[in-house]
Amino acid sequence: MDVSEGTVEIEVPEARDGAAAGRGETVFYNPEQELNRDVTVATLRAYRERIGADSDGRGDESGGGSENGGGSNDRGGSDSGDRSPTYLDATAASGVRGVRAAASGWAATLCDRDPDAAALCRTNLVRNDLDGAVVTRDANALMAAERFDAVDLDPFGTPIPFADAAVRSARRLLCVTATDTAPLCGAHRASGIRKYGCVPVTTEFHPEMGLRVLLSALCRTAARYDRAARPLLSHVTRHYVRVYLELGGGASEANAVIDELGYVHWCQRCLFRAHEFGLIAHPSDACPNCGETLATAGPIYLGATRDRAFVERVRGAVSDDMGTAKRARKLLGTIANELDRPTHYDQHKLAKRWGRSASAMDDFLARLREAGYEASRTHYGGTTLKTTADVAAIEAATARE
Ligand SMILES: C[S@@+](CC[C@H](N)C(=O)[O-])C[C@H]1O[C@@H](n2cnc3c(N)ncnc32)[C@H](O)[C@@H]1O
Ligand SMILES: [Zn+2]
Repeated sequence: MDVSEGTVEIEVPEARDGAAAGRGETVFYNPEQELNRDVTVATLRAYRERIGADSDGRGDESGGGSENGGGSNDRGGSDSGDRSPTYLDATAASGVRGVRAAASGWAATLCDRDPDAAALCRTNLVRNDLDGAVVTRDANALMAAERFDAVDLDPFGTPIPFADAAVRSARRLLCVTATDTAPLCGAHRASGIRKYGCVPVTTEFHPEMGLRVLLSALCRTAARYDRAARPLLSHVTRHYVRVYLELGGGASEANAVIDELGYVHWCQRCLFRAHEFGLIAHPSDACPNCGETLATAGPIYLGATRDRAFVERVRGAVSDDMGTAKRARKLLGTIANELDRPTHYDQHKLAKRWGRSASAMDDFLARLREAGYEASRTHYGGTTLKTTADVAAIEAATARE
């Protein structure tokens, strides 16, 4: 079956009855992830511009030393003169992501341990008249041996089995998808604790919990190798979390990222929450708003989950040939305008707690601003918001006479 995405046309396995194309024993292709891939291509375009000045051999400030030996194993290394930046699609399946990266001017390597997937990657590069390397290998073995400017992890479920090798292999940019939202958000608590080294709590802001748990784990993984991982862009949809982290710096930069970790204390009765930075939690005995016992989650990442200026550039790099261009622009516009602070509220869930009917979102946000608080929509859902007001202040500011 042929599929068009962006400027490329690729072959994917036929869809079978009742299953999305490519699931099961055949090579994987999920049409529902087109938004994820469109945003990836826009990010790669924007990131290429960001590093343009020093991707041609004049420097590699974010390289973080020569952990992997550099030299001959360093595909397109920093001393290679004029070159395209290198991109590894570490778990490539049909290769759709890597083929699209190659079409955007990246020197792409497509890796999959499944020989059928690797063969399809080759077919899809040739079909689009694009250069690119195809490797049939365990991604961890490849990443231990070679470095790339950007490494993309888009595996089944959790990316954690690939995280250590990826933070050492990626010179600058680490792109990660996680589809195991139940462990990340606290629904499968023990699994979340095992995989991510965080205690998650199931809250009404569960997509942001999942994102901050994933960022915490990736930042701590990078810090183990004296590397600082800073989120450039993050988004959560119903089925996955996707993050783009810029890697750089040394031990002191990595320490600064660790300083962004901390805890959220949350009240399930009134939805009060407070956050505290640091690796030692000091939860209050009871909710200051209603007296209920608080639940504590962490250590999660409490810093900004995106770089606003970069997200604007990614938005500008979305092109009309993308199948999800409209959705991608809307998503990126909302993310750019989100307040940085953790965590978001859902107006409908607050209204239910207060026994009120819900208001129009613009009206609700305007009331908060009129009362002197900052307030924004968030990309986590149509009725979600961030504000500098706490839950009691939100209730007071938005009460109708
Ligand atoms: C979710 S699919 C990738 C989807 C693809 N990135 C896309 O955008 O359509 C995951 C792929 O990872 C491959 N994979 C799983 N474990 C791997 C490993 N250890 N090394 C390399 N590839 C692996 C699987 O064979 C499968 O093709
Ligand atoms: Zn409370």
